[in-house]
Amino acid sequence: MKPLDQVLPPSAAVTAEGHLSIGGCDLVELAEEHGTPLVVYDEGALRGMARAYRAAFAALAPDVDVIYASKAYFGQAMLRLANEEGLCVDVASGGELFAALRAGFPPGRIYMHGNNKDAREIREALAAGVGTVIVDNLDEIDLLAREAAAAGVRQDVLVRVTPGVKPSTHSYISTGQIDSKFGFSIEGGPARAAVDAVRAAGSLDLIGLHCHIGSQLFDLSGYGAAAAIVADFAASCGGDDLRVMDMGGGLGIAYTGEDRPAAVEDYAEAVVEAVRGEWGRVGLPMPRVLVEPGRSIVGRAGVTLYRVGGVKEIPGVRTYASVDGGMSDLMRPMLYGAVYEPLLANRAEAEPTQTLRLVGKHCESGDVLVSEAALPPVGPGDLVCLPATGAYGVSMASNYNGVTRPAVVFVDGGSARLVTRRETYDDLVARDM
Ligand code: LLP
Repeated sequence: MKPLDQVLPPSAAVTAEGHLSIGGCDLVELAEEHGTPLVVYDEGALRGMARAYRAAFAALAPDVDVIYASKAYFGQAMLRLANEEGLCVDVASGGELFAALRAGFPPGRIYMHGNNKDAREIREALAAGVGTVIVDNLDEIDLLAREAAAAGVRQDVLVRVTPGVKPSTHSYISTGQIDSKFGFSIEGGPARAAVDAVRAAGSLDLIGLHCHIGSQLFDLSGYGAAAAIVADFAASCGGDDLRVMDMGGGLGIAYTGEDRPAAVEDYAEAVVEAVRGEWGRVGLPMPRVLVEPGRSIVGRAGVTLYRVGGVKEIPGVRTYASVDGGMSDLMRPMLYGAVYEPLLANRAEAEPTQTLRLVGKHCESGDVLVSEAALPPVGPGDLVCLPATGAYGVSMASNYNGVTRPAVVFVDGGSARLVTRRETYDDLVARDM
């Protein structure tokens, strides 16, 4: 096997037949039983990450909530698991809210995000009794205040601020900078205006601030920089209502053998100590810290299995191997130039002897899953495993070209359960009148 230890779930192993296995389940057998593309999550790895997060923060501060950012993967089985593991959940739309409620999340442990929550979504959140709404613009504060008043509720609110910190990550997933569609800029006054507006609204209770500087971060220094700016802002606002500081998500994961993400423990220390230090510096009591990890909880726990169809060699140019999925189940290579490292699930120990281009089945030249894939010779029927596809894979899936979205299986202790069935052709036309 390629040295992919850090991108595969910890339970990954090779069977006597040379097949890759996860959670004690042979991936070749799973692909035969459930078809491909197939997304396989190691349940032990999901629970392990949830527990590691809770333990790392509990060791540093008494009163931290770890909020799972469900956009990374919001299947019902995952939401139930997050709830069982004592995580809260962050939802960014009425649909994600519906999914979290359906999975049995107590409404008080739901955090409602979104930069353009509409009246219906706000009413749904209020009717459900969502614990906290994170407000993103002044129009929304007005709307939320009116709807809460009409419903006769007082709603706890965090104000999302942008500190003007630009972390090193892809520009599409960088959100802490001033020029952002998200949140209120501290610089220039919008954040102060938002705090004032929430304080002035009789139906809203300001409980703290939120900032999410970006996603897939390896360099933890951005959290300290953000905390310093937000602490100064909190101090400038006066009052004793800013008791909560939600530092967002963002911890990166390894997609390739070369990536070096920080450990959860180091991330927890960076975040908690930054807040402790900066709030101390400005003379404010330590707030309750919240974090919102998504990718780092589910990313490494999931792999996607694809069946190789045609392989063509263009002499003197390159070899293309086509698989039965692509941009409809994994947009990240096309959207962010994300690099993945595939391996063969059916010959896991075969040496990678060639470089080929692994492409999907969609009518797009850009439908390239792995531009330079180091693999053994592959042919029709081989089973490719793409590690670290557990986050922002199926949650961003589409039906482009009428390709049905994959089935999802959870594996644990040698048994597998289907948690999401494969889409059918009937599903594709079911909404058309
Ligand atoms: N909190 C907020 C307010 C967020 O906007 C996000 C992610 C998170 C938490 C979770 O961040 P994480 O821990 O997963 O980095 N589709 C992109 C990532 C988009 C992230 C959007 N917001 C990707 O595939 O890389």
